Amino acid sequence: MTNITNSSLPAKAWVVTGPTSGIGRSTALQLTGHGTVVLVGRDARKLAKVQAKVKADGGHALPVVADFSDVASVRRAAAEISALKLPIAGVLNNAGIMPLAPAQSAQGWDLAFATNHVGPFAFTEALIPYLADGTNVVFIASAVEDSERKIAAAAGFRGSRYISAEASARGEWKSDGSTHAGADAYATSKQGNLATVFALSREIPRLRFRAVEPGVNPGSNLVREMNAAIRLLSKAISPIAPLIPYYSSPKRAARVITDVLTDPSNATGVYYNENGKPMQASKQVSDPEYSDRYVAETRALLATVAPMA
Ligand SMILES: NC(=O)c1ccc[n+]([C@@H]2O[C@H](COP(=O)([O-])OP(=O)(O)OC[C@H]3O[C@@H](n4cnc5c(N)ncnc54)[C@H](OP(=O)(O)O)[C@@H]3O)[C@@H](O)[C@H]2O)c1
Repeated sequence: MTNITNSSLPAKAWVVTGPTSGIGRSTALQLTGHGTVVLVGRDARKLAKVQAKVKADGGHALPVVADFSDVASVRRAAAEISALKLPIAGVLNNAGIMPLAPAQSAQGWDLAFATNHVGPFAFTEALIPYLADGTNVVFIASAVEDSERKIAAAAGFRGSRYISAEASARGEWKSDGSTHAGADAYATSKQGNLATVFALSREIPRLRFRAVEPGVNPGSNLVREMNAAIRLLSKAISPIAPLIPYYSSPKRAARVITDVLTDPSNATGVYYNENGKPMQASKQVSDPEYSDRYVAETRALLATVAPMA
């Protein structure tokens, strides 16, 4: 990784996870005009390509390799980033997956829960001591966590099926869930992003925690495990997606996310929709007792992983 001397410090730096595809890639490119972009992803070659694109656009980016499904890897990446002593103005937790078949992480936990919630949570907690007051910490959430969201229900989601963090790690979800493969794991893990934003905004008032629902983005790569017909359909509708209610494109979602990430106001604990307007989360995760429990149980789960040597 490139080393920066203090004399060449940029005015601002932005940490973006999952910058190699879809929404994260578009956001990393849009942040180019705002300062140095720290690109955090699992594939060094893909990171180098995005870094080259940022450079070609006249910006500056640094790659940091991290696998968000692996707690040890994200802790190492957070230590690497904090050692750079960059003036971090914002952290975007965007990396995510929607696996169709259950799989396990390095810690033996459900892969979707580990990648979408536990990894970003551990990454954020490891960075917090190094973040200046007023830093924006943004999570890309998903409204499929809400069982009352009609468009999500029509797509087969039944909302978060959270029992406990330990049960989620074992890949166990509340009964009467979705009949669609991977839907319960995805919805439950993405609710973890909102629980994090709501609980940490109360716990750490010196930082600002925000969440964005980016809209349905058929133009991203999230559906990579779906069958060819769905992938083809996604590609076909992606050019007109921003015209459809609740839908968006990575470019448009990136504009909303960039606005939220660079917004200097004191707004914290706010959840924004695909148009950048505040929106309501599920009743469940809006209950402070529930989001505090989700976070406390996540910390207890993380405490079972040996700290970095
Ligand atoms: N697309 C939608 O309709 C939609 C709706 C609501 C919320 N979201 C959320 O938006 C976020 C971005 O998704 P997207 O739609 O842009 O999907 P995408 O095109 O598949 O991009 C996902 C990004 O996450 C990275 N990633 C996946 N697993 C990782 C891991 N273990 N370690 C490090 N990086 C990892 C990917 O890296 P590689 O390039 O190496 O695979 C890629 O850069 C996700 O959090 C998703 O849940 C998406």
